[in-house]
Amino acid sequence: MKGIRMQGGIPLQGKVRIQGSKNAALPILAATLLTNEVSYIQNCPRIADVHRFVHLLRELGCLVHWQEKGIRVQPGENEELSCERAEARRMQGEAITGMRSSLCLLGALLGRCGCVTMEHPGGCVIGERPINLHIKALQQMGVEFREEEGLLSAQVKEEKMHGAEITLEFPSVGATENVLLAAVKADGDTRILGAAREPEVTALCEFLMACGAQIEGIGGSELLVHGDRPLHGTRYTVPSDRIVAGTYLFACIGCGGSVLLTEAPWEQMEAVTLVAEKMGAQCITSEEGLFVQCSKRPQAIPYLRTGSYPGFPTDLQSVAMAVLTKADGSSCIEENIFENRFRIAEPLKDMGAEIVLKDGRHAMITGVEHLRGNRMEACELRGGAALVLAGLAAEGESFVTGQHFIERGYENICRDLRELGARIISV
Ligand code: UD1
Repeated sequence: MKGIRMQGGIPLQGKVRIQGSKNAALPILAATLLTNEVSYIQNCPRIADVHRFVHLLRELGCLVHWQEKGIRVQPGENEELSCERAEARRMQGEAITGMRSSLCLLGALLGRCGCVTMEHPGGCVIGERPINLHIKALQQMGVEFREEEGLLSAQVKEEKMHGAEITLEFPSVGATENVLLAAVKADGDTRILGAAREPEVTALCEFLMACGAQIEGIGGSELLVHGDRPLHGTRYTVPSDRIVAGTYLFACIGCGGSVLLTEAPWEQMEAVTLVAEKMGAQCITSEEGLFVQCSKRPQAIPYLRTGSYPGFPTDLQSVAMAVLTKADGSSCIEENIFENRFRIAEPLKDMGAEIVLKDGRHAMITGVEHLRGNRMEACELRGGAALVLAGLAAEGESFVTGQHFIERGYENICRDLRELGARIISV
């Protein structure tokens, strides 16, 4: 059976380059639809979710080519993006339902052609993931929604969307991105209150600004978009992936050793390096990237809460949990973003970890000295990466199946970890 085989218990040593950010690249690829001109998206990670997104762009008639440094996208004035075609099109299938980011097409296609009909987007099985905030915000901008034969259908009521004052009840990353994509094409100004502040939202704003959009307040929780400015193609370099960098940082803490994560976006990782230091790691930042050293058994973290940026990212909660199972002392993790993110607790317990889950939001972990290597199955992206980390931190051999989930977000986790001296191979 296909999977990842590894030998645990080997300290990490060496350096690895951190790939471009998945969560920044995907909405930016959607944003390329807002102009007819060519855009070059450099440092785009070569991961399954990006390949799926490229497939969707091609279905929409865009010419998309991989180049040495990234992707060239040319929407042009193609037939597929005409309003008539948009009305008849049903966006369905694995590329839509297999990743939550296909939802960005909602804002982008409403901005481009005024209507879209799509299946409910999927993504990781880490909770209910409703889209009520997206719908409510776009309704305020003049979009009408219908449910049609199980598909979600959105149509701009008048000739164009109009600006609005939108208050997000929760700083949803995806809803903020969808409103931005729609607002740059809408008539008038749109103010987003309670916007998500994640660096990936900032990257989308930067890309849109480079295309000619006008957005104020970038990086903050109140954004002001001056709509309907003429947009053109541009060249943009996707920032490095803070979640991939965080994964390898925790790998180093779990196995011990010292690693240099070149191009790691450490300015975006303050909450993560703070936790790493509390666990006993030394983190040194430089122009080159992030250096991490951990020479002893990690310390427990009495209380670790996930939160919206700049809080500790939910996407790193699983890898932190994998490492805390081996820490000295007891830790408690509180998950505040997604309700179903403790699915790795069972496989970790099978390796000898002591974890008690409470009310779906809390995990109490009593550190053990050793984990035993085991056979495990990845069921989602970040949880899958966490199982790999557990295998590397355990004694003996481990085998992780469900590799395709991990490949959604990591270009080549085995190659990267081998560069850091791990004994790991994809078979
Ligand atoms: C994005 C990231 C994901 C990350 C998450 C939080 C991408 C492709 N994915 O996901 O990796 O874990 O941000 O940082 O960028 N919610 C609602 N209604 C909505 C929208 C969201 O209730 O309409 C809830 C969700 O169920 C969840 C919380 O808000 O509990 C956060 O969701 P959101 O910030 O929207 O995450 P995503 O954009 O889906």
